[in-house]
Amino acid sequence: MPPGIDGRRVPAHVGCVMDGNGRWASRRGLPRTEGHAAGEAALFDAVEGALELGVEWLTVYAFSTENWRRPVDEVRFLMKFNESLLMRRRDELHDKGVRVRFIGRRNWRVPRRVLRQIEEAEDLTRNDRRMTLTFAFNYGGRAELVDAVSRIVADGVAAGAVDEKLIAKYLYAPDMPEPDLVIRTSGEYRISNFLLWELAYSELVFTETLWPDFRRHDLFAAVREFQERRRRFGGVEGVEE
Ligand code: IPE
Ligand code: IPE
Ligand code: MG
Repeated sequence: MPPGIDGRRVPAHVGCVMDGNGRWASRRGLPRTEGHAAGEAALFDAVEGALELGVEWLTVYAFSTENWRRPVDEVRFLMKFNESLLMRRRDELHDKGVRVRFIGRRNWRVPRRVLRQIEEAEDLTRNDRRMTLTFAFNYGGRAELVDAVSRIVADGVAAGAVDEKLIAKYLYAPDMPEPDLVIRTSGEYRISNFLLWELAYSELVFTETLWPDFRRHDLFAAVREFQERRRRFGGVEGVEE
């Protein structure tokens, strides 16, 4: 265990809003897309760090439902980039025991060939259990809730049967625990439509580091900060319900 981290209180689920790629590139006089490309090393170092800690679930925000607003060339790059990343690195993830999954709108705007890579990576790693790496891709927290409500209505669920448990069952990954810790890089202090339902009681850690510069020691620092927090879930510490 890295120094200063209590192995018994490692967050089971860590979420990352991987932000700051464009600024990282601009500061170097490079096109924004170079920042996305440089984010790959950050992601895989974070995966290594998470495995080292024994994190069971790592969820990364890779493309939001609002990111379609970007210039068409950048969007095209991001689609191709994610497709190629999955193709190039799924075997390596499989070898490490990492199950790859996706949350997001699959039937809306995502090119067929990207979907194919998503499905291949999911199939290959289906039984890997060391850690689950979930890509939030074409993901929006509001879209997830809209999709949930729409399926609840389509299933003819009675109004009186709707409760929090039922809604949670209709989310994209109903078996995924809620994140204990969510990290956002690049000094932006907002959620930007990430896991709206799921992060109701997550601890949020913000860092100035731009995503392409993020490495496992930044993850460890966030986990140390997490371990200093006192989670009360609306209750009073040390008093059982
Ligand atoms: C995050 O970096 C990656 C995606 C949203 C795909 P940005 O591209 O948002 O980088 P900044 O925020 O413009 O620096
Ligand atoms: C959030 O970052 C989405 C991802 C990291 C994929 P954005 O850069 O899109 O968020 P805003 O626009 O700054 O809120
Ligand atoms: Mg951004």
